[in-house]
Amino acid sequence: MRKTVILVTGAGGQLGQELVRLTIPGCSVIGLDRGALDITDRDACMQAAAHHRPDAIIHAAAYTAVDRAESEPETAHRVNAAGARNMAEAAESVGSKFCYVSTDYVFDGTADRPYREQDPASPRTVYGKTKHEGEKATMDACSRAFVVRTSWLYGRHGANFVCTMLNLASKGSAIRVVNDQTGSPTYAFDLAGFIADLVQTEKYGIYHASNSGICTWYQFAQAIFEESGIRANVEPCATSEFPRPAPRPAYSVLGHDAMIREGFAPLRNWRDALRDFLASVRD
Ligand SMILES: NC(=O)c1ccc[n+]([C@@H]2O[C@H](COP(=O)([O-])OP(=O)(O)OC[C@H]3O[C@@H](n4cnc5c(N)ncnc54)[C@H](OP(=O)(O)O)[C@@H]3O)[C@@H](O)[C@H]2O)c1
Repeated sequence: MRKTVILVTGAGGQLGQELVRLTIPGCSVIGLDRGALDITDRDACMQAAAHHRPDAIIHAAAYTAVDRAESEPETAHRVNAAGARNMAEAAESVGSKFCYVSTDYVFDGTADRPYREQDPASPRTVYGKTKHEGEKATMDACSRAFVVRTSWLYGRHGANFVCTMLNLASKGSAIRVVNDQTGSPTYAFDLAGFIADLVQTEKYGIYHASNSGICTWYQFAQAIFEESGIRANVEPCATSEFPRPAPRPAYSVLGHDAMIREGFAPLRNWRDALRDFLASVRD
């Protein structure tokens, strides 16, 4: 029997690498990194879809440099919006499902309760705006589409907050971390597992997928050191002390209503996931 073929774009990225390492019974996962497929090249997207004939495409390719996007809006748009449309159209051309991975940055971060999937988007950054355009292009171009928004992503492959904290601590640096931004850290391995399950269903639509529970970045840093048994010199500070080109959301907690409604188990608590991550990088 033919295996279900899942094509992953951006396979060299943090999430992409987790996806291509998954063992999914009955499925064959094909990863295309930027060298193998540049998603800004529409013809190349069409050819990749025609060649691999996937049942589902997981679109993990993205322009993720949040601050740099403020000075490179055309590039961010070309990748996050136009690139998503290219790939969603390519999926549609071969009858494939298409899953666009998106972000909490489509919201403005002013809420005082978890964002629901149907809340209106109100991005404040170039990155967030281009990702929201990518969501709309996905829904517009593909009749079998999923949008999965996540937040505070980290994993075993790529630069992320956890690795930065561990590096700083290993150098004995004094570390100051903002304590007035609240969200949910998400382990890329857990997110990859959910997306792999999701694309094998017909439960199309928008999903929020982050590890359960909430914390501030400072609390996240404290947990990283506690769980690693590292004594680090970490102090809380305010966002206003670290001006950045792209404003950061004060509150980016995503509610998981759609996952629950559609019968998926919410992702485990962020601290349990962090513990597993740290054990996997220690081994
Ligand atoms: N990281 C987070 O905290 C976070 C939070 C919320 C949502 N997300 C979303 O989650 C998804 C995965 O994020 P991630 O952390 O895995 O990002 P990542 O590590 O930056 O991976 C993105 C990948 O896309 C590739 N890419 C960039 N431009 C491309 C192009 N034109 N054609 C093909 N590939 C291209 C990048 O290649 P290069 O390395 O060569 O540029 C990189 O390998 C993204 O959609 C992101 O918006 C991330």
